[in-house]
Amino acid sequence: RKITLILAPFDGGQPKSGVEEGPQHLLDAGLQSQLEELGWTTSIDEPLKDLDLLGLKKDASDVHGIVKRPNMVSLASQRIHDAVKTAALKNTLPLTIGGDHSIAIGTVSGFFEAQPDACLLWIDAHADINTISTTESGNLHGCPVSFVMGLDKESWPPHFKWLRPNLRADRIAYIGLRDVDKGEKKILKDLGITAFSMYHVDKYGIGKVVEMALKAINPENNRPVHVSYDVDAIDPLFVQATGTPVKDGLTLREGLFIVEEVAATGNLAALDVVETNPSLALNETHVLDTVRVGCAIARCALGETLL
Ligand code: ARG
Ligand code: MN
Ligand code: MN
Ligand code: MN
Repeated sequence: RKITLILAPFDGGQPKSGVEEGPQHLLDAGLQSQLEELGWTTSIDEPLKDLDLLGLKKDASDVHGIVKRPNMVSLASQRIHDAVKTAALKNTLPLTIGGDHSIAIGTVSGFFEAQPDACLLWIDAHADINTISTTESGNLHGCPVSFVMGLDKESWPPHFKWLRPNLRADRIAYIGLRDVDKGEKKILKDLGITAFSMYHVDKYGIGKVVEMALKAINPENNRPVHVSYDVDAIDPLFVQATGTPVKDGLTLREGLFIVEEVAATGNLAALDVVETNPSLALNETHVLDTVRVGCAIARCALGETLL
């Protein structure tokens, strides 16, 4: 029972700075000792502590059409890919703390190289499946799923040559969606991807939704599960310090229940917690609330129970 904590202090997938400070805030809040308390041995992947060491600076000339910072995102996600893959091959559980969600290009592709039979649960207000052709913002944190699935590969910026797409459409399910772009809705429909929006959470209740999501991607419950958790899935009442908040989201308990259920399957094998941006809070309470939610997601996914 070993965790490799992979710090991904990266903000190149979107315009707002501060999200690169997420990992340090979670560490300062005691994440590592909280996980040790649950019985895990933890170690921090040192080389990734400071992505700035890679010389990754926001550079206005780093563009590909409308897409912003393809070089920066590619370099960071390649590094994260290697770290996650190595951690998984060592039989440790990679826990990657972001950073913006573009880092999932690295976490998912890296984890699935180590565990090709894995499946992915994407918890988010957003589908993050825009392609180079459908993105309206040009922000790569809205595109990671399309990259790991190899969608619209002909249009990829040349920087992503290293990336081998390895996620199949029947191995991903979403929970929490409520801000999905038009082009993304078409992709989800055309590929038949399992997706539960807030409508479904209201209709069926969170318990049934998690059950259906896991059933779709892991019917025999024999696949390793990767959870990529964007904190903006949870309602901004609980999570204020994030770059693209969307109202009418999951309650905090619904958000934690999802990962408690994954933990109960015994098959959680990789986890990302992303998009905590401490500098977007209006006051210190908001920062503490958001950072505490990030830690709670990790604890609940990794075995903490109420009783
Ligand atoms: N769909 C929008 C876009 O592509 C928002 C994406 C937000 N993504 C996120 N990881 N918070 O720009
Ligand atoms: Mn590789
Ligand atoms: Mn999101
Ligand atoms: Mn996201």
